[in-house]
Amino acid sequence: MLSVITLLTAALLANAWPAPVAPYTPSGGVGVSPDSPAPKYEPYSDFDFQSLNLALNQEWIELDLFYKGLEMFTLKDYEDAGLNSQDRELVEFMAEQERGHAQLITDMLGPRAAKECTYTYPFKTVPEFVDSCQKLTRFGESGVYGFLPHLNSRPTAQLLLQSITTEARQQMIFRQFEGLFPMPVWFETGITQSMAWTLLAPYIATCPDDNPKIEWQNFPALDIIDNPWAPDPAYPPAITHNRTALSTPRQKVSFTWENPGKKVGYNDLYTTSTSAGKPKFAAWISQLNTTYTPLNDISGNSAWTYQPDGTVFVIEGYYDPIVNETMFILITDTDLHVTPYNISLLNDHVVAGPAIYQSG
Ligand SMILES: *[C@@H]1O[C@H](CO)[C@@H](O)[C@H](O)[C@H]1NC(C)=O
Ligand SMILES: *[C@@H]1O[C@H](CO)[C@@H](O)[C@H](O)[C@H]1NC(C)=O
Ligand SMILES: *[C@@H]1O[C@H](CO)[C@@H](O)[C@H](O)[C@H]1NC(C)=O
Ligand SMILES: *[C@@H]1O[C@H](CO)[C@@H](O)[C@H](O)[C@H]1NC(C)=O
Repeated sequence: MLSVITLLTAALLANAWPAPVAPYTPSGGVGVSPDSPAPKYEPYSDFDFQSLNLALNQEWIELDLFYKGLEMFTLKDYEDAGLNSQDRELVEFMAEQERGHAQLITDMLGPRAAKECTYTYPFKTVPEFVDSCQKLTRFGESGVYGFLPHLNSRPTAQLLLQSITTEARQQMIFRQFEGLFPMPVWFETGITQSMAWTLLAPYIATCPDDNPKIEWQNFPALDIIDNPWAPDPAYPPAITHNRTALSTPRQKVSFTWENPGKKVGYNDLYTTSTSAGKPKFAAWISQLNTTYTPLNDISGNSAWTYQPDGTVFVIEGYYDPIVNETMFILITDTDLHVTPYNISLLNDHVVAGPAIYQSG
């Protein structure tokens, strides 16, 4: 019975697409015909423009951030943190990569492309700098994964993919600089533009007046009390450590969050907002999953919950716990079932966040 259904489905799929466009090219696919219009590496819609606008602002801060970490700290400071002159060179190379990424997006956006801004950073030491880089590249990376397949302009998605893949490598190197396990998950997660913008905005102080306004939402900020702290002298920088996760399932995690209406970001242009109802759940976005846990003792803008212990997959005894990396938590008004391709439907239900949770 099953095989009949499979055959029928295959037949239907085969009929759904025009005949093959070229030899050795099975029917289907987009933009692979010799008759396809030539690709244009530019936004096709406002959605594309604003997604790239956000990504460009992210590339600019990374460029500034990596150079800042070279200017602010001496070689001796790096050595005290277990890093050496060659590690500094690698940070400098990453800054140079950001020049290329910013140039690429500037070329795709044309004359309206945002220029570099000024930034404020929270770090005072090399370990804090490395931790900031590790987290900032995480939301830069996840912010792009969240929208890539939704872009109208697939040629643009192609180029952005090729730069975000490099950023993913940067993120892993900063993990190694921090003595963390380099890649404790099976899948890297995606978040929405508004979630990424909420995390980015507080770092941007001023921008040129003609930078195009970022049209995504700023949600109220969320703070995780007792968030695990990654730097630990017992785990100096290394390719890898047999280090256990920094937090465990069913551990208590407490939150406070802000009310909407606060000015954030540059030039007093942005104000936090929410369209959600009352806070009810913590949403844990990691790997392929958005998992909800109920909030307890909700009092004003604070509550607590337990870390969930679900798995992405269990395969022949090998298992992948959902929560085991640098991931995202939000406060929501409902436990809306979303999957990676429709996660933007969660935006309307965000009370506050995301905040970055350092679970591994
Ligand atoms: C690494 O940790 C695992 C699980 O805690 C343990 O079974 C294994 O023996 C450790 N390996 C080394 C080389 O320390
Ligand atoms: C979870 O992350 C730790 C590092 O933080 C890693 O050692 C461990 O293997 C991961 N667990 C699983 C089951 O993948
Ligand atoms: C996490 O996502 C995977 C892939 O969609 C799914 O198979 C799994 O059941 C999810 N895990 C939980 C606990 O929801
Ligand atoms: C999101 O997609 C999943 C299927 O992948 C579906 O089950 C779920 O209902 C969708 N969520 C919403 C809010 O539509």
